[in-house]
Formats: sequence, C-alpha cells, structure tokens
Amino acid sequence: MDKSVHTVIDPDLCIGCGECIRVCPKETISLQGDKAVVTGNESIACGHCVAACPTRAVTVTSLAADGMQLASVPNDNRWLPHGEFDPAQLFRLMRSRRSCRNYLDKPVPLSVLQDLVKIGTSAPSGSNCQQWTFTLVPTRPAVLELGKAVGAFFRKLNQTAANPLLRNLLALCGRGELKTYYLNYYQEVKEKILEFDTIGKDFLFWQAPALIIIATTPGASCPKEDALMAAQNILLGAHSLGLGTCPIGFAVAAMNRDRAIQAKIGMPAAESVHAVLTVGYPDETWQALADRKAVAPRIVGG
Ligand SMILES: Cc1cc2nc3c(=O)[nH]c(=O)nc-3n(C[C@H](O)[C@H](O)[C@H](O)COP(=O)(O)O)c2cc1C
Ligand code: SF4
Repeated sequence: MDKSVHTVIDPDLCIGCGECIRVCPKETISLQGDKAVVTGNESIACGHCVAACPTRAVTVTSLAADGMQLASVPNDNRWLPHGEFDPAQLFRLMRSRRSCRNYLDKPVPLSVLQDLVKIGTSAPSGSNCQQWTFTLVPTRPAVLELGKAVGAFFRKLNQTAANPLLRNLLALCGRGELKTYYLNYYQEVKEKILEFDTIGKDFLFWQAPALIIIATTPGASCPKEDALMAAQNILLGAHSLGLGTCPIGFAVAAMNRDRAIQAKIGMPAAESVHAVLTVGYPDETWQALADRKAVAPRIVGG
C-alpha cells in the first residue's frame, strides 16, 4: 500500500489553527511555532487536512484536481454539514432503490456510467487504499457475451452437481459446497438455462444494457468491504440519475471460481471481483415502498 507523503502546506496561508492536525489519522502534520509543517513520513492521502483547513493552505498533490466532477449532471462542490440533508428524503431514496429486473431497450451513455464510477469512488475504503477497479460493459451485445461465459460456468457446475455420488462423497469429506449448491440452486439454474436456450430470456442480467464490475487489486486491507461500499453508492446514485440496477451474485460467484471469464473481458486475473451490477433505464413502474423483516438490535451495556 502506497503510504508516501504528498502533503504540501503553504506557510504564507497557514494561520496555525491546528485543524489539519486534529483530523489527520496518521500524524503526518505537526505544529512548529505557529505554522503547520509536514513532519510525518506516512500518509494515506485521505485529504482530511485539505478539507479542514480554513485558509486552503493544504494540498495533497497525489489527489486528482477536479477528478470528482460529474459530466452528466450539475455539480455542487460545497461540503454538506452534518444534519443539513433532509433525512426523510435520504431514507426515501434508500428505500426506493429496488433491484430492477426489467429494462428498456435503451443504452446508458458511457458518460453516465463513468459518472457512476466516480460516485462509487466517494465511498470509504480501508486505509483509504482505493484499490478498486471498475470495468464497464456498456453495450447489450457485450453484456450478453459475458452472460454466456457465466452461463457456461453454471452449465458445467450443474453437470457436476447432478452426480449424486460425487456430491455426497465430497460432503462426507467435509466439502459440502456442491451438495448445498444442488439443494439451493441446481433446479432453478437448470430451468433458467433451458429458458435461455429456448426463448432467449436472460435470467442472469435481466436484459440489462450495461454492467459495472467492481473488483480489487491484490494487497487491499478490506477488499470486499471497499468494493461493496462503492457498489451501494453506485446503486443509490443510479436511482437518483433515473437508472435501475441489480447486484448479480451469480456472476460474482462464477467469475471468482473461473478467472478465465475475467480474461475474456480483458480483466487481469489477479483482480478479485466483488460486485457485478446491472445498469439500465427501468421498465418497471413502482407504486409503493416495501417493508423489511423486523430486526431487533442487540444492545450491549445499556
Ligand atoms: C450480494 C447480492 C447478490 C445478489 N445477487 C442477485 C442475483 O444474482 N440475481 C438477482 O436477480 N438479484 C440478486 N440480488 C438482489 C437481491 O435479490 C435483492 O437485493 C433483494 O431481494 C432485496 O430486494 P431489493 O434489492 O429490491 O431491495 C443480489 C443482492 C445482493 C446484495
Ligand atoms: S488547518 Fe490550515 S491553517 Fe490550520 S494549521 Fe493546518 S494548514 Fe495551517
């Protein structure tokens, strides 16, 4: 993980308030006399010092200037203070995002998909490593190609799982995954493959015109968490941009088990896929919000 220091403080602008020091997680900066100075030899380039400085004296040169500007909608670059966003509207957005499984036959502009990637990268990541990669599959034929590769994986898996001797033997040896797959998915996958072969219905990517694949490169401290936080930002951002989405766990499972699928779309085999999201204009008219299962949080020490 790159921990090199790219923090620069303009002594002419610094008024010595110490705010940058208070927010720095790595003690990269200290106060010398009445000026902040870079004294540490490690930084995670989180940019908290930049955000906290009242005189804009701090720069982190490794951060892309204006890299977070969206192309498809207006930008508002002001920091939103705690408590200033309407929580009712935020929760409404969260609840209104539903997995979309019917899409219009309408391409999603590449600029919008690229904006969604930026929205994804505003998520937190372990040690701010940001070791995520985003692969865009922006056309229906390309989505279908990937779907066929994932489908081939499941055709083979179903063939293997259909063998009772093999799945029971593996279960006896403590490897019950095949038996679990058989019990939970075998029949459904068999039927869906048959329907794809006969009527061409895409039960994997739901006829979506685009995909976003989120992976990480080796060495991230919390790869799956980072990727899934980025994914959730994308799902919410997509809803606000008028797009439907659906996380496709079947594709993640296939790509993790058969890295040749990644190679087919030019993804390096060393990357680990954590999320495959369908993206498209929804062909669904939602009428209401749905509830979730009740949850009772455990309270410790209350
Ligand atoms: C990790 C994960 C994997 C999922 N995999 C699939 C999938 O392969 N196919 C699918 O149609 N939906 C998939 N979903 C969508 C879930 O079925 C959906 O999130 C859940 O039913 C709740 O509905 P909602 O997303 O509309 O709120 C997945 C969701 C998650 C979080
Ligand atoms: S936050 Fe800005 S003004 Fe305050 S000490 Fe740090 S660099 Fe100086």
